[in-house]
Amino acid sequence: MKNEILLFLLFGCIIFSQSSCKSDDRSHGQGGQMFANFWQGPEPFTNEELTILNETLNISNTLPDFDVNNLGHSNGTSRIVEPYTAMLGRVLFYDKVLSDDLSISCASCHQQSLAFADNQAFSDGVNGNQTLRNSIALGSFPSFISTYGAGAVNDTINQKLFWDERSSTIHNQLTATIQNPNEMGQLLYSLNLRLNDRPYYPILFKRLSKEGTITNARILTALATFLGSIHSQNSLLDQALIQMGTNSTIDQDLEMFNLSQELGRELFVENCMSCHGKSIFESADILFTSANNGLEEEYLDRGIGAITFDENDNGKFKIPSLRNIEMTAPYMHDGRFETLQEVIEFYNSGIQAHLNLNEELKDVDGNPKQFNFTEEEKIALIDFLKTMTDETLLIDSKYSDPFK
Ligand code: HEC
Ligand code: HEC
Repeated sequence: MKNEILLFLLFGCIIFSQSSCKSDDRSHGQGGQMFANFWQGPEPFTNEELTILNETLNISNTLPDFDVNNLGHSNGTSRIVEPYTAMLGRVLFYDKVLSDDLSISCASCHQQSLAFADNQAFSDGVNGNQTLRNSIALGSFPSFISTYGAGAVNDTINQKLFWDERSSTIHNQLTATIQNPNEMGQLLYSLNLRLNDRPYYPILFKRLSKEGTITNARILTALATFLGSIHSQNSLLDQALIQMGTNSTIDQDLEMFNLSQELGRELFVENCMSCHGKSIFESADILFTSANNGLEEEYLDRGIGAITFDENDNGKFKIPSLRNIEMTAPYMHDGRFETLQEVIEFYNSGIQAHLNLNEELKDVDGNPKQFNFTEEEKIALIDFLKTMTDETLLIDSKYSDPFK
């Protein structure tokens, strides 16, 4: 009998925990709960702890519900998010202690009211430096978080991160961002020591594991968990799809849309969807995740080409999500366009004949497409893009700054 139990434990260990069964870390799956002395999960904050936390933070034992709930989309998303881990991630996201000169937090360049982008072509980072590219809106990239906020940090995600797709794990993206001298300029290996000096972190980290140590892996797990809880799916477009029933798609007429939004939807499906489909559904089928959309005949910033050293990749950039696009001006990897009008005019008449220009933007003779949209159609496209603005995301208190 004893042997059977041992076997069962061993088996459970293999099935449930990819990383290790030694770990008591909550973020490594449920398997370990079979061990008698396994950590059972976070205890509520004590009154003493709350007094310390509340000197700096607005936090109580009633944590926000960070779960992502499918609102009824044909293709929506649900995931369970461990609330103490997400709450810690939220504190880290808004804390300037993550940057070398204590002047910058993630939220400096990813502002909630701007759909977690900012309003500058290049963002101000530490020590007076600027980023080399435009900040990317968060909350709309495909899910990478499994139950419990997960081994997520090492999970490969199905859409790579950054304009040049140089990161395929959230762990890698976060490390690059924190250490980037133009962004936060903080070496990761000593970040845990810094956090230890703030009275609130030892308390918050105690909710992640039995012994409560602040480790860099846990810093990344918490940030990744919070990022994974930010999910935009309550725009007018979403509501219009939900109203049409669970099998509705963007190819069909949407009753909640006015005439201009409907015209814009048709134009979008015909001309833009093949590349920007992931804007609508995480699981949309698209042929490629990056493209050269003909901004230049000669790119100064070679994008993916500078990573792969392959000429065929020059001028290719990640195809950005267009969710909340109304809020995230200026546009493109270098923030060259101030308004959506300028973007539409670019697609209408300004596409350049780069050698790598994507086929979708070429006409039958292989020249850059001239869409020749009418004024009415240009307005309609913009009206459609604005149906992807999700007001809930912009003001939802669970994503807001927890500092007093
Ligand atoms: C100084 C401004 C700045 C700060 C601070 C900053 N970011 Fe960013 N973030 C950017 C820019 C710019 C990009 C795009 C960079 C690129 O593609 O080369 C980006 C990209 C990202 C991406 C990739 C999104 C995608 O869809 O590919 C994520 C995720 C992200 N940041 C999260 C964070 C988190 C979390 C923090 C805090 C730990 C943070 N950022 C701090 C400016 C910043
Ligand atoms: C061949 C694929 C492709 C097609 C088709 C396409 N786009 Fe894009 N789009 C891209 C890429 C790639 C970028 C980013 C380019 C860069 O920054 O260098 C982009 C960027 C954008 C942006 C700016 C996003 C941001 O966050 O800065 C908007 C808005 C946009 N496209 C709208 C449209 C519209 C509207 C259409 C249809 C008329 C369209 N796109 C068709 C690939 C495409």
